[in-house]
Amino acid sequence: MSEGDAVRDGGDLGEGAGLGPLLSVRGISIHFGGLAALESVSLDASVGEVVGVIGPNGAGKTTLFNVICGFVRPNSGSIAIAGRVLRRLRPHQLTSLGVARTLQGVGLWHSLTVVENVMAGLHRESRGDIASALLGLPRSSRDERRLRARAMSSLERVGVARFAERPPGSLPYPVQKKVALARALVSEPKLLLLDEPASGLSEADIDEFASLVRELRADHAVLLVEHHMDLVMSVCDRLVVLDFGRVIASGTPDEVRANPLVTSAYLGDEVDAAPLDGAPAASGQDR
Ligand SMILES: Nc1ncnc2c1ncn2[C@@H]1O[C@H](COP(=O)(O)OP(=O)(O)OP(=O)(O)O)[C@@H](O)[C@H]1O
Ligand SMILES: [Mg+2]
Repeated sequence: MSEGDAVRDGGDLGEGAGLGPLLSVRGISIHFGGLAALESVSLDASVGEVVGVIGPNGAGKTTLFNVICGFVRPNSGSIAIAGRVLRRLRPHQLTSLGVARTLQGVGLWHSLTVVENVMAGLHRESRGDIASALLGLPRSSRDERRLRARAMSSLERVGVARFAERPPGSLPYPVQKKVALARALVSEPKLLLLDEPASGLSEADIDEFASLVRELRADHAVLLVEHHMDLVMSVCDRLVVLDFGRVIASGTPDEVRANPLVTSAYLGDEVDAAPLDGAPAASGQDR
């Protein structure tokens, strides 16, 4: 399928994107052999809100992101962005659809510098520059400077511009996580999928990250997968809780916190009621 097909099927996020939710996931099921990784999962996310996707280890959170991004094809269900159903979406078409994602680890290329990693988040725009470079056209270096400037401002936004020329492998893990976030932001997406962005961060880093997510909410729809419950409860407008691939609860953080099904999913059936805070990491090891 050409990029044009994706745009015809999925539409870009221009006019009309303000009607209804930006992301609409309907009845997604996916089975890996005998394992139901997702079963009839539906959720919406609109610009102006942070939707937390939580659940114990193995619940299907990353798989849901993989389906939304077209990395894996669901057995049934549909994904719509800005009201248009995406068919046969290929990962390289995400940027043109206004979608960006961070991976559960960091996923940076260690042979590139930090700024080059972020520039790679602009690969759609840079493709023309690569062609220009191959043909020896003069605009390539000017365009490369433009892409580099955008990458630098994205690094500045998350506070790590001073590391631009370093290889990511030489930097502390929390800095690498911020670089990965800068790479997601550089294409100016409308839908941002963050898979455990705060893992490995210190308390201070997490507070800083929470402030950034609150800022991003103004002009993004954010889907946030996280095990840090304090962060989730403080930044999310709504939560969707997955367990064994199914949505077992959804609602405001307070509603979800009070839901015994959720407590039970995290802590095991023998525990009737316990505070959610701090539960996931411990319970997750067992699954
Ligand atoms: N490509 C795959 N092939 C087979 N099984 C898979 C595949 N991807 C995921 N799974 C399985 O699907 C289930 C859901 O995995 P997933 O990675 O989505 O969980 P998760 O909620 O992101 O967990 P975590 O919190 O540990 O990251 C797990 O049982 C996992 O082993
Ligand atoms: Mg995961």
